[in-house]
Amino acid sequence: MSITYDYIDDYLYRLAAPRDPLLEKMEEYADSNAIPIIGPLVGRLLYNLAKTSQSRKVLEIGTAIGYSGIWLARAVAPLKGNVTTIDMDPERVKIAKKNISDAGLERVVKVIEGNALKVLPTLKEEFDMIFLDSDKDVYPDAFKMSLPMLRKGGLFVADNALWGGDVAKGGKSKDTQSMIKFNRLVSESPGMSTVIVPLRDGVLVSLKE
Ligand SMILES: C[S@@+](CC[C@H](N)C(=O)[O-])C[C@H]1O[C@@H](n2cnc3c(N)ncnc32)[C@H](O)[C@@H]1O
Repeated sequence: MSITYDYIDDYLYRLAAPRDPLLEKMEEYADSNAIPIIGPLVGRLLYNLAKTSQSRKVLEIGTAIGYSGIWLARAVAPLKGNVTTIDMDPERVKIAKKNISDAGLERVVKVIEGNALKVLPTLKEEFDMIFLDSDKDVYPDAFKMSLPMLRKGGLFVADNALWGGDVAKGGKSKDTQSMIKFNRLVSESPGMSTVIVPLRDGVLVSLKE
């Protein structure tokens, strides 16, 4: 379900700058294989957030086929930054690595295969930006586990924060309840300046002050 009016969405997509053939091919592949990727509007938002925050080190939880990772990598590459991205689906990791290599970004993006809740405690780095886009039931734990790795002044960003609008209606499904818990957790976290941007399915943007 869309959280905005279709005619407004259509307008936003019509205005979006054309992507290069690789990203367009990935968008078509995701569409025909029912792989939920962020798409060009949220891709652009991530790119702009990473660039304006001058992020060098980015952590992504939920790689899928590497689409959002490529947007992030292109933002950090000029600063010699890098993206660490985690996904537990071996088939998707394989496709992501191929797409990242086709984008010429294999030195910028490190793909880790595994369950994020197991991988996160093994990471010893500090990140300038964290992007969360995994299964929704792990959002609260993924936030709690990754927040200590976010530097002061860094951005925590999460996709699907409005979950088709169900969070605002108090929906009872497991995923909706998890997203309600997550949105409250981040919004009430001391030292975090948080807003949900109602773009596509809602993008939570939280600054660690
Ligand atoms: C919505 S897709 C990510 C889309 C991607 N960020 C993009 O827009 O291009 C979610 C991905 O998270 C992965 N995932 C879900 N739960 C996970 C977990 N606990 N640990 C690691 N990966 C997970 C799934 O395998 C899936 O590929």
